[in-house]
Order: sequence, then C-alpha cells, then structure tokens
Amino acid sequence: MSETTRGFATAQVQSGYVPSAAENTAIVPIHQSNAFEFSSLSHARDLFALKRDGNIYSRTANPTVQVFERRVAELENGIAAAGVASGQAAVAVALLALAKSGEHIVAARQLYGGTVDLLQDTFADWGISVTFVDQDAHDEWRAAVRPETRAFFAESVTNPIAQVLDVPAVSEIAHRAGVPLVIDNTVATPYLQRAKDVGADIVVHSATKFLGGHGTSLGGVVVDLGTYDFGADPERWPQLNEPYARVHGASLLERFGATGSPYITLVKTKYVHDLGPSLSAFNAFQLLQGIETLDLRMARHTSSALEVARYLDAHPSVARVHHPGLQNSPWHDNAARYLPRGTGAVFSFDLHTSGDTEEDFLLVEGFIARLQVVHLVANIGDARSLTAHPASMTHSHLSAEQLLEARICWTTVRLSIGLEDPSDIIDDLAQALASVPVFEGATAS
Ligand SMILES: Cc1ncc(COP(=O)(O)O)c(C=O)c1O
Repeated sequence: MSETTRGFATAQVQSGYVPSAAENTAIVPIHQSNAFEFSSLSHARDLFALKRDGNIYSRTANPTVQVFERRVAELENGIAAAGVASGQAAVAVALLALAKSGEHIVAARQLYGGTVDLLQDTFADWGISVTFVDQDAHDEWRAAVRPETRAFFAESVTNPIAQVLDVPAVSEIAHRAGVPLVIDNTVATPYLQRAKDVGADIVVHSATKFLGGHGTSLGGVVVDLGTYDFGADPERWPQLNEPYARVHGASLLERFGATGSPYITLVKTKYVHDLGPSLSAFNAFQLLQGIETLDLRMARHTSSALEVARYLDAHPSVARVHHPGLQNSPWHDNAARYLPRGTGAVFSFDLHTSGDTEEDFLLVEGFIARLQVVHLVANIGDARSLTAHPASMTHSHLSAEQLLEARICWTTVRLSIGLEDPSDIIDDLAQALASVPVFEGATAS
C-alpha cells in the first residue's frame, strides 16, 4: 500500500472535501451534514449567542431546510418559517410557543384526528387546556375565550369532511380576544388559499401532503405571517418580551422584532432545539421538488375531485357527498368566497347506512376491497388516488359523540383524488359501487 502524508483513517473521513467551498449546482443541494465547521472559536461563540446568522447544527438549522422554509414563507406571504419533521410536529411546536402550562387554546372540533389526540391528550398531560368548538358556531368561539387563552386553531379546509372555515369571521373573534389565529392550511395549500389574505396570523402545514405531493417524505412547517403584534400586550407574551437566556439577556422582540420573526426564533431555538423534531435535509429536498409543481398539481387535483364528487352525488348508492364545490354543500358559499380556485382534493361521501355499525363497517370494507385505481392508504395529498375509512382509521380515537360532531359516520369514506385520468377514477368507483346494496328506506346516519 503506498504511503500518503496522513493516515488512511484521516483520509477516509476528510479527503476531497473543503468545508464552505460552494459548488454552482443549479438545483438546491442536499446538505446532508449534521454540523457545520466554524472559522474560529469567536465565530462559534457569536453563532451560539445568536449574534450572527450561520450554520451550527442541523437539529435547529440546515441550509437545505432553510431553502424550504424561505420558499414556503414566500408562498404564504409570511415573514419567516420553521421546517420540522412532520405536520404533527408543526402543530405541536406552533402551539407550544404560544401556550404553556395553565394556559388555554380554543380549537375547532373538526380537526384531523391526530391533532385532536395531541390537543386533548398530550397537551392535557402538559397542563394546557383546550376547548373544542363547532367551527361554524361563532358564538361558541366567543364563549370559549378565557383570560388565559393564547390561541385559536382550525383547519382552513377540514380533513376529512372538507368543511370550509369562515376564516375572516373567526379571525375577527380571535383578534377581539387579543390572540392570534393559527390555521392548518394543509388541505388548501397556499395555491388555493393564502391564509394571510383572509385573516390568519400563523400557518402550519403537514408538508407530507400536497406540498410534497408524491407520498415520499414526511415534513411540516410553521409560518409567521407577520400580522400579529406580540409586543402590544407584553404581559400576555413573556416568552417574547422578557429577557431570553439563549440570546444573553435581550428579549426575542428586542433582538429580532425589527429584522425577523421573534416567534419563529422561539419555535426553533426552544421547541425544535429542545424537543428535536427536525426536518432532514433529504426530506426538505424532496419537499422542494414537490413544491415546484404545486400549482399544476393542485389545479388538476381540484378539478378531478369536483368531477368525481359530481359523479358520486348522482349515484343511488351514495347517501351524501361532503364536497364544498357542490351546490348542496353547507360550505358552498364559503368555498366560493374564500377558495375561488377550488377546494382541493380531499373530501368524503357516505354510503347508505344499514343502521348497524358492524354491518356498515363490512359494507365499506367490501366497497374498498373492490377498488383497483384508488388505494387504501392512511395518507392524503399523493399523486395517487387514496381512500380511507375515518371512523376505523384516522379518527378511531374519537368518541361516538365526537365523530357525530365531526359529521363522520360508519359509512363515511374519505377520498384524496390523485393525478390519474379522472375517467379511470370514476370507472373504478363505479364498478366498486355497483355491488353496494341500497337499503330499503335508507337514510344516511
Ligand atoms: C390536516 C392535517 N394536519 C396535520 C396532519 C399531521 O401531519 P403529519 O402526518 O405530516 O404528521 C395531517 C395528517 O394527516 C393532516 O391531515
């Protein structure tokens, strides 16, 4: 073996790469590095004290993830964003940065089941209380407010029933109560609705869904839209107005109020740093690839979903279609007003009920088993068309009462319409519906 000036093991880990040498890659590179080299100890000290911007360690910041954050922030017309490992993590850190033990959140009852689990179970363990309200009942939002309330939270278009939130009305109630409105914009995406335009202050996404769009990578993001003034009531927001040890004595508002987002800095430097739900560089790269075609995909998803909904609405085996693009939907007006480009790909329909839960389950199981183009998968926002049975899958932890309040019954079938030819999706549903019995005198449950 020939001699080199340094040992084999040293060359094995260091040769051929000079940290900080930029390559002229046309595509955002995957910066698959846990950590980043400092030019000096002083440089390191300044970065750790948040006195200078720069890369330290990928748990709190990574250059590929930062491109993803800037891109989503711009699409939502926000001022800054934090990329995280999943949508669930995005909801958790977004709300933890607002409400701590002893404080309170008002949230819509119609939230995705995993979010309900987080709020009513884990947040309760941590001493954060949540009041769930019917998102269309504005009086309930108003009545739920307490002195310790710190946020309102809802989805712009709900999963799985596709209820369209009257964001301006809920935003007005939140602002009168002095708290920010946090919107989960996963189903709508910024292509169909920029939540800022209708009154939201903070947006979260499960980027796992339509932003990524291909079912390959989990991710989430929190965006500060820059509309809520955390300095107006300093007593309400000590975490942003009082000296913060991690920036050596200054408050986050003093340090970042003029140049960035104190709120997103708190999300990253405390909650992502301490709890560790970081987005990987590889997943950020995949999500960026997805975002490059977001408008094209959403337009196709949306038009195909409406075509499928119209077909189902006219089918005798279908009791009800929950699609806000249909004239008969209670959310048709909100959809026309707030989502002029359409309401997305996720919606549900109910088969006629037999009146018996177990029989209804078998009915849906038989229907789903016959599908060939539409796949049984616990996901939405894929290029492929997907189906799920919320009552036994995504929303199975909800009580019978909660299911009823969320308008989910045992014959409710969720669809996430993909990018296939719409006629193939409709033909598939048609052949699977052909052997679904229509019960004598049936009504939807
Ligand atoms: C509306 C909504 N928000 C949040 C989540 C959670 O996202 P993730 O699965 O990426 O953690 C989901 C997942 O289905 C969702 O549908």
